[in-house]
Amino acid sequence: MKPLVVGNWKMNGLAAARAEVETLIKGWAGSAPEACDVVICPPATLLTNFAADFGDEGLEFGGQDCHANADGAHTGDVSAEMLADAGAAFVIVGHSERRADHGESDAMVRAKAEAALRAGLTPIVCVGESAGEREAGRENDVVTRQLDGSLPPAADGAALVVAYEPIWAIGTGLTATVEDIERMHGEIRRHLGPARARTRLLYGGSVKPSNAREILAAADVNGALVGGASLKAADFAAIVDAA
Ligand code: PGA
Repeated sequence: MKPLVVGNWKMNGLAAARAEVETLIKGWAGSAPEACDVVICPPATLLTNFAADFGDEGLEFGGQDCHANADGAHTGDVSAEMLADAGAAFVIVGHSERRADHGESDAMVRAKAEAALRAGLTPIVCVGESAGEREAGRENDVVTRQLDGSLPPAADGAALVVAYEPIWAIGTGLTATVEDIERMHGEIRRHLGPARARTRLLYGGSVKPSNAREILAAADVNGALVGGASLKAADFAAIVDAA
């Protein structure tokens, strides 16, 4: 499966941040990486301009969240249709920060993933256990329950991406060991079953240039979801190269 590297800018980036995208593209010197799909999920405010200006440069864009409805009285929300209209091809749903900050349940995440598919976007569905859940040995139960609750049951496997992001590794500098990642990705792969054999499984949580190569080479890892290290073109480019 072709690897996929996704940069999640979170709530970072003013208009001037386009310089990072320009630097990334310049580094490719006219030929974007062919061995890897590259996606940047900037804040929604930058999406339209980025997709219009850089959409032909070998990278794609995504949203960081969407509402489950196509339109309506939902002040402050953005629908999947709006993201698609702005030039997005992907949308992250169920990120642990959304689950924690906005109380998003698995059912809500599934509705958002279904909305993404309805709008022609590829949902990147995030799952992952907390430190306490891992200490209690419950990480497999937690993640498989999140998968069962969050993935649209009827969706074709290739139409989805799953990102495993242990919460304790996000933004902390701590990464899961390659053994832990392989164990969990193997568990997720088995749980998805043959019908979802073409679903790409990303690892996320403090992926950086120094650890990207070994993580991206791990069994059942088909790419990475990168937060902090996606904000600097040089770091993100190094991670893309590692894929
Ligand atoms: P991080 O974030 O790379 O900064 O740990 C990853 C994520 O939250 O997607």
